[in-house]
Amino acid sequence: MNNDYTSFLQELREKSNIVDVVQKYVDLEKKGGRYWARCPIHNEKTPSFTVDETRGSYYCFGCHASGDVFSFIQQVEHVDFKEAVRLLANRAGLEIPKFNGNFNEEKRQAERQKKERLYQLMREAGLYYYNNLAGQAVGEVVDYINLRKLTKSTLKTFGIGYSSGYNGLIDYLRNKGFTDSEMLESGVAKEKNGKLYDFEAGRLIVPIFNNLNNVVAFGGRALGTVDFMKYKNTEETLIFKKRNELFGVHTLKKAKLTENFNCVIVVEGYMDVISLYQAGVKNAVASMGTALTIEQARMLKYYNNNIYLCYDGDNAGQKATYKGIDILRDAGLNVKVVKLIEGLDPDDIIKKYGVSKFRELVDNAISPTEYKIKEVAKNYDLSTPEGQGKFAVQALEILTELSTMVEREAYLPMISSLSRLSENSLAKQLDKFGENEKGYKESQEVQDVAQRFTLKPSTSKYYKASRYLIYTIFAYNSLDYFTEDISHYLKDKEHIAIYDFARELATNNIKLNLEALKELEGNGEAKNIYEGNYESIPNDCREQMLNDCFITLKKDFLDIEMQELTNRLEEEQNIDQQSLLCSQIAEINKQIIDLKRRKNGK
Ligand code: UTP
Ligand code: MN
Repeated sequence: MNNDYTSFLQELREKSNIVDVVQKYVDLEKKGGRYWARCPIHNEKTPSFTVDETRGSYYCFGCHASGDVFSFIQQVEHVDFKEAVRLLANRAGLEIPKFNGNFNEEKRQAERQKKERLYQLMREAGLYYYNNLAGQAVGEVVDYINLRKLTKSTLKTFGIGYSSGYNGLIDYLRNKGFTDSEMLESGVAKEKNGKLYDFEAGRLIVPIFNNLNNVVAFGGRALGTVDFMKYKNTEETLIFKKRNELFGVHTLKKAKLTENFNCVIVVEGYMDVISLYQAGVKNAVASMGTALTIEQARMLKYYNNNIYLCYDGDNAGQKATYKGIDILRDAGLNVKVVKLIEGLDPDDIIKKYGVSKFRELVDNAISPTEYKIKEVAKNYDLSTPEGQGKFAVQALEILTELSTMVEREAYLPMISSLSRLSENSLAKQLDKFGENEKGYKESQEVQDVAQRFTLKPSTSKYYKASRYLIYTIFAYNSLDYFTEDISHYLKDKEHIAIYDFARELATNNIKLNLEALKELEGNGEAKNIYEGNYESIPNDCREQMLNDCFITLKKDFLDIEMQELTNRLEEEQNIDQQSLLCSQIAEINKQIIDLKRRKNGK
C-alpha cells in the first residue's frame, strides 16, 4: 500500500543532504568527522550542534535535539511532519505523489498551484506598499508614523507600508502579470462599476505573515483617530483564514534563533506586537482582536508550552481572557494571565511608562485560577454576608477545575481572605463539591430536550447531535458559539448544505432564524428541522447542549480517522511510513483524550 509514497520519501531523503539543508540555517564548520555549528534550535554562544553527514543525522550537545533531516525541519521551522515533507520536496524540486485512493488529489494539486500564485501576488503587493512608504512618502502618513514612534528598522522588520491611493497597487500588479480575477481573489482589490480599486486605499499597511513567512493578508490602519473601521483587514481568502493565523509568528520565529524564550506572550493587537518588538520584547504574538481560536492555540504549541495571556485592560479584553484560558488549556498549554493597567494596552504602557513597567507586569502574571477568582469577586459586594457567601460558593466551584486536592487547597487562603469566611468551613464545602463531581453528567433537562429531538425512532446519537446542532444554530443564531469550522465533522449531505448556508448568511451579517431554512428548497432536512415543532430550549442549557453535540460529532470523526490509520499501519511495510502513521495516530489519540477530558468537564 502507498508504495509510491514510500519510495518518494526515500528519494526525498536522498536528495535532501542534511549538510546542505542545515547550511541554510547556520554556517557549518568541518572538524574531524563531523560538522559543527551554533545550534539553530536553541540559542547558544559556543557551537555544540553537530551534523553527521554519512548517517544523515544531527545532535546538539546543548539541548539534546537530535534526529534526521525531516525532524530537523520540523524543529527549526516549527511545523509538523507533513509540512516538513512539503518544504523539503519544494527545495528538492520533487512532486509529492498522490495518495492511493484519494480521488480529490487533482483538485488539491490545482488548489496548491493557485495558492502559490496568491502567495506571489501578496508578496508583490507587500513590496509595493513597503516601497511606497520607504521611498518618497510625505505628509499625513509620515506624521502618523512619527506619532506612533515607529523606527525605520521596525518598519523594515514588519514590512510596514502605505497605500497612497486607489489605483497604484492595481497598476503595479497588472504590470507584474497578475489578472483582475487573481487580484479580486487575493482580497487586495475590490470592484466597483467594473473597475478594480485598492481595498486598503489611504491606509497604513501591516502585512500578516503565516508561519512559513508568506504574506497572507494585510491589516490596514486608518491614519488618525476613527470610530469606525480602525483596521480594515483582508477578508477571508483561499490563503487567509483569520482563525488560523497569529500576527507576529514570523518575527518570533526569527528571534528564537538568537534568543531563548521561556514563554510566548499573546496580545490583542498588531501595534502591541510591533511596539513590544521595538522595545526588545520579541516573544509576543497577537490573536488579532480578542477571539483566540483553537487553531491559534495549536499553532502556539509549536513555539512554546508556556503562554502568557495579555489582553487589554478593558471589558472586552477581560471577557476574552476568560474564554482564552480554557481554549489554551484545552490545547494542553500552561497558561498565565498578565493583568494590565485598566484601560491601557501593551503599546500604551510602553509609551507611557516604558518597557520595564511592562516586564514587571509580566513578572507578576497570575495563574488562571487566581485570575478567575478575582474576576468573580468583582461581581459581589464582599462587605455583606450574602455577598461573601455567594462569592465563596462560586470561587470554590472554580477550584473544581483543578485536578488535585492539593492544588485546590492552595487557593483557600485567598478565598478566605476575600470572603472573610474561615478556611475550615471553606474546606468542608469544597469536599462536598468533590463528592458531587464524580464525572460530568448531562443534566436531566438536557436529556429531556434531547429526547424530544428525535424525529425517527431509529436515529443514531450522531445523527441526532448533528441535527440538533443545525437546529440550534438557526433557532438561536448561535453560529458564533463555535471557534472552529465544524463542517468537517458533518456527514449528512443536507446538514452540510444547511451549515454552509448558515455561514453564508452570517458572512453577510444576516441574523439566523428558522424561517431562513425555507430558502433551501429541496433540502429535506431543512424542511424537517423547520417543521420540527421543538420545545424551546432554556437559555442556560443551550451552551451545554451545543458543546455535547459538538463533542459527539468530533469524536465520531476522530474515531473514523483513527480506524483508517490503524488499518493502514497494519498493512504498511516501510519503516518511515510506519513511523509517520504512528505519529499521526498518537496525535489523533491525544485529540480524543482531550475531547474526553472536555466531556468530563476537565
Ligand atoms: P484594538 O482596538 O485594541 O487596536 O484592537 P490596537 O491594536 O490597540 O490598535 P491601535 O493601537 O489603535 O492602532 C486589537 C486588534 O483587533 C483587530 C486588530 O488586529 C487590532 O490590532 N481589529 C481591531 C480589527 O481587525 N479591526 C478593527 O477595527 C479593530
Ligand atoms: Mn493600541
